[in-house]
Amino acid sequence: MTIVPSNSEKENKKDAGVMKERKAASKNVPVDEIKDDADDALPVAPKPKASRAQLLSAKETAADLKSDATLRPQSLDEYIGQSRLKTMLTMSIGAAKSRNEALDHVLFYGPPGLGKTTLAKVISNEMGARMHMTSGPSLERPRDIIGLVHQLEADDVLFIDEIHRLSRVAEELLYPAIEDFVIDLTSGKGHATRTMRLPLPRFTLIGATTKAGMISNALRDRFGFVLRLDFYSKEELALIVARTSKLLKVAITQGAVDAIAGRARGTPRIANRLVRMVRDYGHFQGAETITEEIATGALDSYQVDAFGLDATDRRMLEILIDHYAGGPVGIETIAATLGEDSDTLEDVYEPFLIQAGFIQRTPRGRTATPQAYMHLKRIPSNQQLNIGQLTIDSIKE
Ligand SMILES: Nc1ncnc2c1ncn2[C@@H]1O[C@H](COP(=O)(O)OP(=O)(O)OP(=O)(O)O)[C@@H](O)[C@H]1O
Ligand SMILES: [Mg+2]
Repeated sequence: MTIVPSNSEKENKKDAGVMKERKAASKNVPVDEIKDDADDALPVAPKPKASRAQLLSAKETAADLKSDATLRPQSLDEYIGQSRLKTMLTMSIGAAKSRNEALDHVLFYGPPGLGKTTLAKVISNEMGARMHMTSGPSLERPRDIIGLVHQLEADDVLFIDEIHRLSRVAEELLYPAIEDFVIDLTSGKGHATRTMRLPLPRFTLIGATTKAGMISNALRDRFGFVLRLDFYSKEELALIVARTSKLLKVAITQGAVDAIAGRARGTPRIANRLVRMVRDYGHFQGAETITEEIATGALDSYQVDAFGLDATDRRMLEILIDHYAGGPVGIETIAATLGEDSDTLEDVYEPFLIQAGFIQRTPRGRTATPQAYMHLKRIPSNQQLNIGQLTIDSIKE
């Protein structure tokens, strides 16, 4: 059976309707007289909730949010990977609890979808604390901050996502709150200005950002822990895929688990999304168990290659190699050629391409690595060989 993965179930019904109309027209009879005939309808696989372009994006989609409640690990024990970070948090949480104190402030940074928000929730759970969630852009005016800190009770966790987007005013108002657990309220104007210092209960601030470089030193220095999340190994992702499949009640073979883990770009959010996509594809085929064949069939049909690269990744490498002789070239230039936003390239696509060894960041711009040439089956020019960027051997390997 040929699977054409292009339509959702609703669209399938529409297609069947169109087929019936066409058949009726060709036989010159009313549509009602044409019976539903399963053999007539083209089998069409369901489209995943995310489009092909969204499938491998580490950014959160509405469908991700929906399954989050079931999938988010709630405790450090349940949390897979990031072992260095977990050890440190286990020790510090244990120490804070034994002293009956709030945990020191924590800043998480790293590419999207690696588990910053999840860890913030895990910390709150482990500390038995209430968590207040907000984000940098929604704390624009002083009264936003004041309103927020007024709700805090002793040992609460205040989670500020996208903390690099805090306004200057908000940031400065936060400094004494973070450092000395006080807040300065000002009233009146000019000569009549008066400042009143109000005490706050001890709380834990958890900040999260994908752009650590955009946080001022003054803010960063006020965190007791500044923790980077790394991409996950294939083995860790395989554990995550197996856990997600179990929670979603999907029967899956180890071969299929490994195939999904290998293409999830080191990112749990993508791994979870691929599980959902492969499950829908398997259901459509009437499979009770997701086998490696079904998983790779689904992934191939969405042009997710064996490294987890999608069309945009490959286009980015093609531009670097074919248009700019392998670089170095600035991210803005690549973005303009690709018709993408440079921020999206930098935050969503590039970190994995760098980590997987396809792109290098140099002070003069991005360069394609021998692995990128090999992946796209390109041969470097003499000029690149002359400048010693690549060697014939490294391409042949
Ligand atoms: N270690 C893990 N084990 C299992 N699932 C995980 C793990 N880390 C993250 N996830 C899952 O991955 C998804 C994304 O995690 P999360 O929302 O915490 O990422 P994030 O780093 O906050 O991303 P963003 O930068 O976009 O806010 C969540 O649905 C969560 O369930
Ligand atoms: Mg988050």
